[in-house]
Amino acid sequence: MNMQQLLNTIKSLLAHDKGLLAMDESVATCNKRFANLGIPQTIDARRAYRELIITTPNLNESISGVILYDETIRQHTADGTSFLKVLNDVGIIPGIKVDKGTEELAHHNGEKITAGLDGLRDRLNEYVALGARFAKWRAVIIIGEGIPTQGCIEANAQALARYAVLCQEAGLVPIVEPEVLMEGAHTIEQCSEVTEKMLRTVFKQLYLQRVVLEAMLLKPNMVLPGLACAKPTSEDEVAEATINCLLRSVPAAVPGIAFLSGGQSSEAASARLNAMHVKFKSRLPWTITFSFARAIQQPALEIWRNQTSKALAAQQALAHRATCNRAANRGEYTPALE
Ligand code: G3H
Repeated sequence: MNMQQLLNTIKSLLAHDKGLLAMDESVATCNKRFANLGIPQTIDARRAYRELIITTPNLNESISGVILYDETIRQHTADGTSFLKVLNDVGIIPGIKVDKGTEELAHHNGEKITAGLDGLRDRLNEYVALGARFAKWRAVIIIGEGIPTQGCIEANAQALARYAVLCQEAGLVPIVEPEVLMEGAHTIEQCSEVTEKMLRTVFKQLYLQRVVLEAMLLKPNMVLPGLACAKPTSEDEVAEATINCLLRSVPAAVPGIAFLSGGQSSEAASARLNAMHVKFKSRLPWTITFSFARAIQQPALEIWRNQTSKALAAQQALAHRATCNRAANRGEYTPALE
């Protein structure tokens, strides 16, 4: 492992109040989002959409790195330039999703385990040769009747740790993403309890697997009530619950925390990130930022809908969301920006 190289990548990813753009939807997930909007589910449409994203003017002013998918990291723009060259030319660092999605955890009542450890060392070496500098692995935790179980939490935490140490060995910064899903009627307090338990277990496994905490990033959910929870929650309550949970469970050695959006509206994600910065910045041991997919992309996707004539407007919407989130990282986001 070249530690300095990993530290340099992290420093660049976290610099200048920028954040990450996750554009690493699997083929199945991307197709699902396309189908919802009547967009053809073809490799050509996916390529055109991803080209639109990475060629968005001034994206690099707010975005330091993008997370790609296996299909996307190998693709080219219509004029034949590789996506990786387009990104590198504007100083955006390419990363890659390396998990193979979730599957049922046997005998666990609908709980999930993330697949992809088999052959991972070889795949990581290939991604490094292609030009990736960081990686991502997502574990999914569901809150429901009698779940999550300890068995599910520990199995996912161990997989995250084994992935992370393989990344460091290969020279990639691991982004460790344990996501507690928003689906459900749980309260913000229940989300906090589960998120804390998951994070404590993840960091125990990272320690056992000898992951260097200084050379990784964490990508957690914000602490939120479930989508079906009736009780309204303010931005300040989310900020407080999230930061208190992270302060209790994430070691100060971790350099950065980049939140996923998880299905929140774009505006809510920006406002909540902003509240964390406004209320807590001076007492945080880590840099906090965003690594959103839907909360940055969704407005652009809804405008584009596979129409060339809408590409420019879609890029403007994408750049706008990126700008709002960078403003949030400075504690300068207000609804007036919308
Ligand atoms: O794995 C999920 C992505 O990295 C984040 O997506 O912001 O839409 O939750 P999201």
